[in-house]
Amino acid sequence: MILEGKTALITGASRGIGAALAQGLAAAGADIVIADLPGQDEAKAKVRGHIEAAGRRCELVELDVTDKEKVEAGIAEATAAMGQIDILVNNAGILVATELEKLDVESWDAHFDVNAKGVLLCTNAILPQMRQRKAGRIINIASLAARQGIPTEGHYAATKASVVTLTRVYAQEVGSDGITVNAICPGIILTEMAMNKLGSQEEVDKWSQSTSLKRLGDPKDVVGPAVFFSSDLSDYVTGQALNVCGGLYFH
Ligand SMILES: NC(=O)c1ccc[n+]([C@@H]2O[C@H](COP(=O)([O-])OP(=O)(O)OC[C@H]3O[C@@H](n4cnc5c(N)ncnc54)[C@H](O)[C@@H]3O)[C@@H](O)[C@H]2O)c1
Repeated sequence: MILEGKTALITGASRGIGAALAQGLAAAGADIVIADLPGQDEAKAKVRGHIEAAGRRCELVELDVTDKEKVEAGIAEATAAMGQIDILVNNAGILVATELEKLDVESWDAHFDVNAKGVLLCTNAILPQMRQRKAGRIINIASLAARQGIPTEGHYAATKASVVTLTRVYAQEVGSDGITVNAICPGIILTEMAMNKLGSQEEVDKWSQSTSLKRLGDPKDVVGPAVFFSSDLSDYVTGQALNVCGGLYFH
């Protein structure tokens, strides 16, 4: 129980990678705050049920990561309920694939609002309490797209490259207060977001063959690296971005 006594707030934890991280960090001993948009009540209840069945506390907070006031209110509510937040996982993200030439400005803004500004707002809302305690763990879910964009994901890749840069700069700005900031760059992980993009079993098979391990990722594959970055196993690791991609890409 390497995370026993810790509380983790995970954005976008109703489904997909965020839900797997909520359950995985709970299995490692952490109490959990699921912070997501309103709705998806059934999915939230399911995740909460798994966490409580593992003997951990779980609180739900409604929060839109693009809205500064809602982020601050949601994090204040979560902190009041749990006492403190030790671990922040900035996981909420969106991807609507479009070629750059056909991309409208609204879509560009929406991707930067959720994927990049969301990281800024949630991190800034949680840092004061971490600085006060001189301890904290921040994990940003970036993407392999941050390393190399692919056609139709240029705008998304640009947001995720921003997330890696934010990770590196935050690490330098908050390290003196004992807070680490690291990023995970998942490859293709089979969630709603990935299936919307891949669209068919043929595409799943094709991309599976492109990985060294000959399979695409399960959301659970992201849990181990997140536990590592959340725990004292990674005390001297900060400002790093780890590819979790089954050997799809190597830089
Ligand atoms: N699935 C993949 O292959 C893959 C690969 C690389 C990176 N990622 C990243 O991992 C993260 C999770 O992806 P996923 O595949 O689980 O996606 P998903 O679409 O299944 O889940 C995204 C979650 O984010 C929440 N969300 C969206 N906008 C939000 C907002 N404004 N405020 C609060 N919550 C919001 C959604 O409600 C949902 O619960 C994202 O940041 C994504 O970019 C995913």
